[in-house]
Amino acid sequence: MKETECIKVCRKALRKLIPSEREKEEIFSIAETILERLGQEIKKRGIEDVETRIEGSIAKNTWISGDRDIDIFILFPKKYSKEDIISIGLDVAKIPFREWEERYAEHPYIQGRVNSFRIDVVPAFKIGDISEMETAVDRTPLHTEYVNKHLVTRQLDEVRLLKGFMKGIRAYGAEIKTGGFSGYLGELLIVGHDTFIEVLKSSQNWRKREVIDIEKHYESPEMTRKIFSDEFIVVDPVDKTRNVAAALTSAKLDEFRAAAYAFLKEPTLKFFFPEERKPYSPEKIRRLVKARGTSVLLLVFEAPDIAPDILWGQLYKSVKAVKQILTQNEFRVTREDVWSDEKKIVAMIFELENSRLPLVRTHRGPPVGTSNQDIFLEKYGKSDKVLSGPWIEGGRWIVELEREYVDAEQCLSEELRVNINSIGLGKYIRGKIEGGYEIYKNEDIAKVCKKNYEFSDFITQFYQRTPTWF
Ligand code: CTP
Ligand code: MG
Repeated sequence: MKETECIKVCRKALRKLIPSEREKEEIFSIAETILERLGQEIKKRGIEDVETRIEGSIAKNTWISGDRDIDIFILFPKKYSKEDIISIGLDVAKIPFREWEERYAEHPYIQGRVNSFRIDVVPAFKIGDISEMETAVDRTPLHTEYVNKHLVTRQLDEVRLLKGFMKGIRAYGAEIKTGGFSGYLGELLIVGHDTFIEVLKSSQNWRKREVIDIEKHYESPEMTRKIFSDEFIVVDPVDKTRNVAAALTSAKLDEFRAAAYAFLKEPTLKFFFPEERKPYSPEKIRRLVKARGTSVLLLVFEAPDIAPDILWGQLYKSVKAVKQILTQNEFRVTREDVWSDEKKIVAMIFELENSRLPLVRTHRGPPVGTSNQDIFLEKYGKSDKVLSGPWIEGGRWIVELEREYVDAEQCLSEELRVNINSIGLGKYIRGKIEGGYEIYKNEDIAKVCKKNYEFSDFITQFYQRTPTWF
């Protein structure tokens, strides 16, 4: 490892990752203003024992320069009901904002905007111990407290390096869409391994179903693996029933480990700050599709109006289901992916080795002389689906049958028409597809690129594919 080189690069990266004093002042001044407005409203309503606080990375001093998210919690004592804290909490939470919307995680909250800042105001219960928890967000203040207690000042920048690295390699964010590392997970890795470089180094030794249990809530890794079924297990220090890495997909974990290896070998700033990749022009995409000699099907339909985590959960499940239709009918799918702007449009893309198959398909029957041969010969002896045979080859009965679909697009549209309920689509996705869709073929996908820049970016990545740091 190039130790001094690593340190040099990290020092340079930190210059961009640490918020300036001015930035800190601005963030805290906005947060304080919001807290004040909330406090006034709470007082006006005569609600007792309710507390407001800054939470998340601002409260932990682990945010990265340029981040524009502020988390604020309204904490209610347990004498309130869950219904009350939501109805009162949301009413109060709207007060400081001219512009806001109601959003859902596992729990509703208000997202407001001030200048270019996004402020989440979340009602929750104030708990002293995890045993009192009623909603998932009740844990957050305990997380803040834990991190503040266990990270020393020097380590705050180690967290920033780790978050910056994860962001740069596109592995940061625990939402379903990304399936990456949450901020809290990054903080715990630093609590566990002390420095950014040590996290990278230790990631090289992580084995399958690695266990990190900082507070030793369980006797052994084996015991822990019995509790959690995930690929990577980081036991939440404040709640031993929760795996902080539950949302991390094994693909993102692998990408992180590969990037860590590459960085330790040849540290550069591009891991933190990758070069912007310009999307290809529609014309270039048209040429590329043609040059690859494969076939492409693009299924486009309207996006359902649901929370992003639910949307992406359903999209990832549904794209697999649609791929199944094609593969079950012997179309070889080399790649598939799904994209959405989360508002208007969804596009599923399938690259196929071939969009057409011959009408004839070989079907192997039972070995000669076994009891099944009667059934087989009964079925295929005179069927009008049989193009040739039955005959015997290598000791088995063989027939050639007429294939149900010779064209991939036809296969897709027919199956979506006839079997839409049994394909395994997410409920909201099925609803939208039933309402109508379009299929674009091969070079025609460039038409969608012309209308949508973000989609061009997605297609460009679909074809480029290499990690940004490579
Ligand atoms: N949280 C969590 N698990 C998640 C997402 C959030 O436990 N998958 C909790 C954490 O306690 C976190 C808080 O919710 O501190 C706020 O969430 P978020 O803003 O996503 O994380 P931050 O720690 O603030 O990190 P950053 O904003 O810098 O990404
Ligand atoms: Mg945050």
